[in-house]
Amino acid sequence: MKFLNVLFILAGLFAQLVSGLSAQTFEDLAKTPPMGWNSWNKFGCDVSETLIKDMADAMVESGMKEAGYEYIVIDDCWQVDRDSLGNILADPVRFPNGIKKLADYIHSRGLKFGIYSCAGSKTCQNRPGSRGYQFQDARTYASWGVDYLKYDWCNNEGQDPKAAYKTMSDALKVCGRPIVFSICEWGQSKPWEWAKGIGHLWRTTPDIRNIYKGKLNWGGLGIVDIIDKQADLFSYAGPGHWNDPDMLEVGNAGLTYDENITHFSMWAMLSAPLMAGNDLRNMPKDVKEILTNKEVIAIDQDKLGKQAFKFLDMGDKEIWVKFLENEELAVCFLNRSEFTWKEDYNWARLNIYHDRKAIRFGRQGYEFYNVWNKKHTGTTNNILDFQIPTHGVLMLRLKPINSNR
Ligand code: GLA
Repeated sequence: MKFLNVLFILAGLFAQLVSGLSAQTFEDLAKTPPMGWNSWNKFGCDVSETLIKDMADAMVESGMKEAGYEYIVIDDCWQVDRDSLGNILADPVRFPNGIKKLADYIHSRGLKFGIYSCAGSKTCQNRPGSRGYQFQDARTYASWGVDYLKYDWCNNEGQDPKAAYKTMSDALKVCGRPIVFSICEWGQSKPWEWAKGIGHLWRTTPDIRNIYKGKLNWGGLGIVDIIDKQADLFSYAGPGHWNDPDMLEVGNAGLTYDENITHFSMWAMLSAPLMAGNDLRNMPKDVKEILTNKEVIAIDQDKLGKQAFKFLDMGDKEIWVKFLENEELAVCFLNRSEFTWKEDYNWARLNIYHDRKAIRFGRQGYEFYNVWNKKHTGTTNNILDFQIPTHGVLMLRLKPINSNR
């Protein structure tokens, strides 16, 4: 009897240890915002093995991988049915060699592989969802080598969002493979309030569209409309748990050069996941340069994981500030107006009080670096004379003058 008790206690301790370890692994999966590519924004349902392999190749050859992008994610429409045992089946015509072979290929290129499903009975494109099959699907994903799951919210049939996402999260935590969990509930139930520990990132808005401003009749939002919805969410983001203002539209027709720069800059300021959504094959030079700008990416990926806050709102002119490691700062002047923003900006009048920090530019000197034209343009002891094009930004990285770094 005593022996049995000891055995039970040991078994309990072991179970605790294992669950503790796997939870910790899960927690550590997205210490900085995930970066990669997703098929939806550009290709919708037109996905195939060839396309996905091409994108993996292009990610390596274009320099995107070197810049930090690592996940290749197939969004909706890869799945067609379930077999008699309930196993999810990929489209045999579009993915003739199956998903595992495709995952192996992506891994062989030094990248990671992501897939899409839905908490509802059907996905948004009416393909089989995971409701009722969460643990089985998670095991299937693990056996295929999946590293990232985007999990949607269509046809949810009135489920409680937290419970629905927690079920899939629990399934992923015991499936035997570390899988980043991307919650795509469109911000309806304020997932930033409940999703930390359940997923690594959560959508905060309806779907992005490749327009600068505006709302489409089905709810799609322009870039600045999405930015507006992020302003109050900075305190919810941090290492391992990110607000997700949706995937990038950089490089998709519809945005001007300056709008693409604004989009990418602001996503970096917001510590957003950077999931490219364009065709990576034969990217125009300017698109490639935007997506691979290392200084901007470094601001997004800063290890402190502090999302920017809107420091000043002057209607169609805004200033956003992001705290970085080593007492550095990123400052982004955003010109939403239809005109050039000309200014002689006096830093000395600027004091920032945020998150128990006080920055007094009049007393603390900073030197700054323009992350787009890659020039050291001055210090905060002088007036900053700038002109920002309509819908454009001025994005600076500030470093304390006397720092040794
Ligand atoms: C929803 C999501 C999109 C995309 C589509 C696929 O609209 O929000 O990001 O995944 O479904 O059907």
